[in-house]
Amino acid sequence: MIGVLVSGEGSNLQALIDEGLPIAAVASNRSDAPALVRAGAAGIPSAVFPLDQHASREERDEAMADWLAGLGVQWVVLAGYMHLLRPSFLERFPERVINVHPALLPQFPGTHAIEDALAAGVRETGATVHYVDEGVDSGSVIAQERVAVQEDDTVDTLRTRIQVVEHRLLPKVVRELCAR
Ligand code: GRF
Repeated sequence: MIGVLVSGEGSNLQALIDEGLPIAAVASNRSDAPALVRAGAAGIPSAVFPLDQHASREERDEAMADWLAGLGVQWVVLAGYMHLLRPSFLERFPERVINVHPALLPQFPGTHAIEDALAAGVRETGATVHYVDEGVDSGSVIAQERVAVQEDDTVDTLRTRIQVVEHRLLPKVVRELCAR
């Protein structure tokens, strides 16, 4: 069973749902994440773990891991989850936490990958699915797909084309990993 962590729109969560993958639970750090509405519409249990309701990040991450494990989660997918995870979470799902990132890692880690790619003037960027460690987008790469940067690209147009790739790549990788 899969647990999905979200903070935002949840278009990648939707791609996983549409693929028919066995999602047992969706967790977020934000109660206002639109992704939670998608989880509800699909009948998937969801819960919010805001930092300000816990004594520390470690304690929050441990509570989130407890909740996911209690619902039978074995694989955790970060789909637009905007916080780093502490060892108190990662140690509960060793080598079983993955993330999708809108660049060809190790190029352009962090929260402004698309802006950074445009600012650097690269001719291609892409999408990466990778294992999660304690660092910022620093775990080993599982799969990547390239996206050409066009002369007239804005952050929005480039993001749209990268997300088309993400929505195909992430469900494919998750399906293959879960089948192991
Ligand atoms: C995706 O582009 C992903 O690469 C990045 O955050 C974005 C999340 O979008 N980590 P969504 O919430 O899945 O629509």
